[in-house]
Amino acid sequence: MIAILVQLIQIWIDNNAILHLLRSDCIKTMEQLAGVPRPDALRSAAINLNHWYAVALSSEVRKKPLAIQIWDQDIVLFRNQQGQVQALENRCPHRLVKLSSGYVQGNDIVCIYHGWKFDGTGHCTDIPYLHEGQKLPPCRIRNYPVQERHGFIWLFPGEPTQAQNQEPLAIPEWEHLNYVVSVAPMNFRAHFSFLVENLMDMYHGHLHRNFQPWGKAILQKKRVGSDWVEAEYQAECYFQINRPWSVIQLFIPWLRRGFLTSLIVRYEYPHWHSWLGNDFRLYCLIAPVSATQTRAYLIHTVSLGAFRDLHRLPIWFRRWVKNRCFNAAKGFLQGLIREDVLMMEQEQQAHLTHPQTRGVEVNPVVGAVQKLIYQEAQIHNTKD
Ligand code: FES
Ligand SMILES: [Fe+2]
Repeated sequence: MIAILVQLIQIWIDNNAILHLLRSDCIKTMEQLAGVPRPDALRSAAINLNHWYAVALSSEVRKKPLAIQIWDQDIVLFRNQQGQVQALENRCPHRLVKLSSGYVQGNDIVCIYHGWKFDGTGHCTDIPYLHEGQKLPPCRIRNYPVQERHGFIWLFPGEPTQAQNQEPLAIPEWEHLNYVVSVAPMNFRAHFSFLVENLMDMYHGHLHRNFQPWGKAILQKKRVGSDWVEAEYQAECYFQINRPWSVIQLFIPWLRRGFLTSLIVRYEYPHWHSWLGNDFRLYCLIAPVSATQTRAYLIHTVSLGAFRDLHRLPIWFRRWVKNRCFNAAKGFLQGLIREDVLMMEQEQQAHLTHPQTRGVEVNPVVGAVQKLIYQEAQIHNTKD
């Protein structure tokens, strides 16, 4: 009888303990989820068009027109006679074919089909077969604010009058002689939110453990502003620029002797950048093509500041070194990108199969960026 009583009390205690655990977990989950968008809303969230997006490398836009796409808008880029980049809707108003199939003549782009010409403002300047007295039709195609800066073509796909109120993301290391820069483009079939989460969740270093740029990340702080989220991690770094041989540690795990450093990642809508210790600065310029396709540029910069006598060298020599070393880390970036893309495309596929299923999350930074992406998408929608 006493044994039965003890057992009943034990069952009661266990049940209460489980209920308590469940309740506290639920409360925690509810708190964490407050304001976090539903998966289907997040993974179809539009971009806020009223920002500058890096849509091409400067070197990609030559005399031949270049077709690009940003958030389902087809755009053609070309250089006029003065070498200035122009951006027009990529659609001839005559038969709606792509102007990017045409060519540039003087300051105009010529449609390949019947030879209609358009200037950088989108006005039709010539139809080669008009009869005498026949006027040019009043057709005009959309042109976009565009500028060339830090080696990229930046385009403003939103309300043109707002373009002058904003600046493209500053990348001072691009020109600075103390920095060696590498760039790798990314193209993958997934919503851009998967990329932002990947870039802000530094625990994904596990994925890159075979050539580890950082390791053993521990989140220290999370800061949130109206259009940015910043996370500060402590991490181990394995490569020091003034000890070139330390690069081998990235690839051979048992040789790794890490040193603790800070790893700060910041999503400053719509782009990302980060600081790894004092020497490394990374950027990711994100230009979503559509809800299921993303293009981005990953930029890696490394400071040569550890070589203290560098500034004594002649400028021409420093420039020569900078230019010679341009893209030295490109292969390394491409290796990281390959691994990330594989995961992000799997996430997208899993989402399409289970659109209502929310992944279990323990890093609070992820929820914060999801909220920001959704919030910016709402701005886009209210301005449509
Ligand atoms: S379709 Fe472009 S000129 Fe006719
Ligand atoms: Fe990664």
